[in-house]
Amino acid sequence: MLRRPRRNRKSAVIRSMVAETSLSLSDLIFPLFLIEGSNKQVEVSSMPGIFRYSQDKLLAEIEACLKLGINTFAPFPAIDDAKKDKLALESHNPDGLYLQAIAAIKKEFPEVCLLTDVAMDPYSSDGHDGIVRDGEILNDETLEVLGKMALAQAQAGTDIIGPSDMMDGRVGYLRNILDTNGFSGVSIMSYTAKYASAFYGPFRDALDSAPKAGDKKTYQMDPANQREALVEGELDVEEGADFLMVKPALSYLDIIKLLNDHYDLPIAAYNVSGEYAMIKAADQKGWIDGENAMLEVLLSIKRAGAKIILSYFAKEFAITLQT
Ligand code: PBG
Repeated sequence: MLRRPRRNRKSAVIRSMVAETSLSLSDLIFPLFLIEGSNKQVEVSSMPGIFRYSQDKLLAEIEACLKLGINTFAPFPAIDDAKKDKLALESHNPDGLYLQAIAAIKKEFPEVCLLTDVAMDPYSSDGHDGIVRDGEILNDETLEVLGKMALAQAQAGTDIIGPSDMMDGRVGYLRNILDTNGFSGVSIMSYTAKYASAFYGPFRDALDSAPKAGDKKTYQMDPANQREALVEGELDVEEGADFLMVKPALSYLDIIKLLNDHYDLPIAAYNVSGEYAMIKAADQKGWIDGENAMLEVLLSIKRAGAKIILSYFAKEFAITLQT
């Protein structure tokens, strides 16, 4: 035998020399959940190790993560039911939970990079990402709300907005609002190919944001489709996105590769709540080695072509690097 591939696997040093993919902390974005009040830290029952923090505790958590080398965070707000309405008015209330926290984070840690979420669901009494009328999700009317939300987040000091709503035309609409209001420097990470997925369950528990009626299939993509992701990608590129995101990650590695092959913008992938929960649950039962599964999952998302990974494992990964 002239060719023996096992020679390149014979020692840890050689394996790391020939490794084609590696993970670093600068690849990761850590999603965080924010709740009202102070001195509160409540574990999400379907996401062991992940907490909902009041603002003071959130700041402390960010400080701890910065020490571990995580620099980019994606906060999401859990809004009290009493503040939800059909138009998500609380989403652009400058004194509201989310916008206050964005400003506080940027004030205390100017070096932090924030990716803030633009979608109506946390604030909507219907639990949808858009305005609901007679059971329909209204696209163009929703853009107006998203515009107010994005502008308010820019004013609060965000670095990147992340439209996660899947309305048509929103990237261009938001780019225009930001630019005409003096925020041409705020980036857009578009949730380009966001699928109508069963893997969002634990997130909806964390935010109490599940749809009150119906599902999200008229705006989120059908898991059957691949080519449609190219249509979404093309629009986002034309409309001025800076990053294209695929969500979820694991059942959609082909989509990550497809977008990475077709577009020159950096590709992000969201390793979502249900993907985290599955590994944690199996680990807790002693059925898999959770740490190794985490490392394999993150590496596979990177290998598929994602430069950036949003993951609830970000902090745990950072801790494994220290030990
Ligand atoms: C909705 C939104 C969702 C997530 C982020 N933004 C879920 C949904 O469509 O209900 C899910 C993230 C996760 O599961 O980790 N704007």
